Amino acid sequence: MRLILLGPPGAGKGTQASAIVKRYNIPHISTGDIFRLNIKENTPLGKEVKSYLDAGILVPDELVVDIVKDRLKKSDCANGFILDGYPRTINQAEVLDKELAKMGIELDAVINIFLDVQLLIERAVGRRLCKNCGATYHIKFHPPKQDGICDICGRELYQRDDDKEETVKKRIEVYLTQTKPLIEYYKDKDILVNIDGAQSIEDTFNEIINALEK
Ligand code: AP5
Repeated sequence: MRLILLGPPGAGKGTQASAIVKRYNIPHISTGDIFRLNIKENTPLGKEVKSYLDAGILVPDELVVDIVKDRLKKSDCANGFILDGYPRTINQAEVLDKELAKMGIELDAVINIFLDVQLLIERAVGRRLCKNCGATYHIKFHPPKQDGICDICGRELYQRDDDKEETVKKRIEVYLTQTKPLIEYYKDKDILVNIDGAQSIEDTFNEIINALEK
């Protein structure tokens, strides 16, 4: 299964990707996660992209496209992959199309998770992540059993720097101007699947799987 997860910040892309990869046994490729790991490890790439993530704006295309091209060539992508947060501009989508064509493969579907802006802000601002294993929680919608502690590995939870309300609003604005046009782009290719992200995590997952397997 070769998939793209499209949607505004906080729509539930990462949450759904974690469940989808288990079902199809494919790698989860999140450009946001790749950037955050590089920032944490203080790599040259991390130093270069930090200011963009902190400001809630997109990293320039030239810093993203080659990372994804190289990642798709790894052997674990042979049976499929899920791209989460990539592409985010028409240019990134066109580069991806060319790369997939060169590799002789096609996308199976682009899952577009949509959600009302107010709920997006609430979802992103309330998100908490595990410092150790990366598991995602929400203070209201998906709280850990013990406040501030990961259910899975017992380590501390934290809030992403770009999940402060003002930065979330900026990220939504950036999504609307630079990423939303991809909905039409993939609709024209007849591979777009629209999913209502306001449902529970489980119902959203079931709707995605039904759409993919019908
Ligand atoms: P990235 O990390 O990709 O962030 P994003 O796209 O803004 O998406 P989020 O991770 O915020 O949200 P999500 O949709 O995954 O939601 P989640 O499942 O966690 O990008 C960060 C930055 O990196 C960008 O701003 C940019 O600077 C840069 N970047 C990344 N890719 C780039 C690219 N291609 N080009 C250029 N720059 C790039 O859910 C959110 C919360 O809601 C969680 O707490 C979760 O528990 C909860 N939740 C989820 N689903 C439900 C549900 N159904 N019901 C109730 N609660 C739910």
